[in-house]
Amino acid sequence: MRDFVFSYPTVTYFGADAAVRALRTELPKYGRTVMLAYGGGSVKRNGVYDTVMKLLGEANKDVVEFSGIMPNPTYAKVQEGARLARGKRVDLILAVGGGSVSDCCKIVAAQALTDEDLWEMRFRFQAAPAQFIPLGVVVTVAGTGSEQNDIAVITNEEKKIKAGMTGAAPSFAALDPAYTLSAPRAQVLSGAFDTLSHCMESYFGKPLDDNLTDEIAEAVMRHVIRSTRALVNDPGDLRVRGELMWAAAMSENGLLKIGKVTDFQAHQIEHQVGAYTNCNHGMGLAVIQPILYRHLYKAAPQRFARWAKNVWGVADRGDDRETALAGIAALEQFVIDVGLPNSFRKMGIADRSFYNAVARSTNIKEGCCRQLTVGEIFDILTECY
Ligand code: NZQ
Ligand code: ZN
Repeated sequence: MRDFVFSYPTVTYFGADAAVRALRTELPKYGRTVMLAYGGGSVKRNGVYDTVMKLLGEANKDVVEFSGIMPNPTYAKVQEGARLARGKRVDLILAVGGGSVSDCCKIVAAQALTDEDLWEMRFRFQAAPAQFIPLGVVVTVAGTGSEQNDIAVITNEEKKIKAGMTGAAPSFAALDPAYTLSAPRAQVLSGAFDTLSHCMESYFGKPLDDNLTDEIAEAVMRHVIRSTRALVNDPGDLRVRGELMWAAAMSENGLLKIGKVTDFQAHQIEHQVGAYTNCNHGMGLAVIQPILYRHLYKAAPQRFARWAKNVWGVADRGDDRETALAGIAALEQFVIDVGLPNSFRKMGIADRSFYNAVARSTNIKEGCCRQLTVGEIFDILTECY
């Protein structure tokens, strides 16, 4: 593996009443004014808002509400939150929701403290903010692992770019599997695939030598596949929801990237599809990733064969390419079995006019085993239709 520095700043509270335990312990550590941030209103329907407000009241906090954070949060929404946080001199931001709420708040936490245009800073000067309002996260739907890292995926609607930026790493996070019970089934499955996708993207990153990181990734992948199937059979199973919630955190807290170059090619393509269609992240990955791997496996047949055997339980076919293809077929079958879409059309994306723009604007990285060309991304998108 390559040299690395690893740090993990988030205090994580997991399990029953995690938010109650987290907020009672953590809130007293911060100043009086708390910005309570959430999405389109699910927290008000499922009772999470009332629970959090009660705990904020117990802790004598003045609450500033920042609501309406949309799935695939926009840079404009970040600016709205930053103006509010700055104006009210917020001491702590409490993000209650999924990856979108958490991501938006990570950049709000930085933008509130600077007049710099953070988008310009990131994309023109390759720099990142260093000062943040402290951030806490209460997770209501699992999958992105956003609550465990400093990555924020933001859509710049004007520039038609959806991309990762560096933001505040949450100081604490609460993961109560019961909070996900009200989430739509399709969103829960989308999140589960996102977790699996993070594992795969890291696993296929270089180097492909024998290393501990990849062995851990194999275990997480097997577990996610098994747990997702179990959840489809019994959506109310809190134990399984908890396993998936922790797997989501494991897949994006940095552990599976230790000593590896993680290029996240499927994510790069999906994010740009999102910039043009505002599509669901995990579902987009479920469509793109198997097709991407049919394009890539010949460049790393040994690694794909190992994945097929160790993760999907495929029998060795005596030829790495054949074994690899059987693994990709197992991935495709998994998508179908759990009820995720396997084409853009099934996601409701019938328009094809954006493929060229997406192919051209996708940030092509080093590549897990081979660098894709713009033409190839276009072909992959066409096959996704
Ligand atoms: O807005 P509300 O009303 O809360 O509804 C949300 C939203 O419509 C709903 N929801 C969440 N919890 C619920 C619930 N509905 C009922 N009951 C609950 N308990 O779910 C919908 C989707 O929420 P969202 O936060 O958008 O989903 P997700 O967690 O999948 O986040 C997706 C975003 O995260 C980014 C994606 O690109 C996308 O923008 N990612 C962030 C990453 C990171 N920071 O590390 C990594 C990922 O690869 C990903 O790119
Ligand atoms: Zn993802």
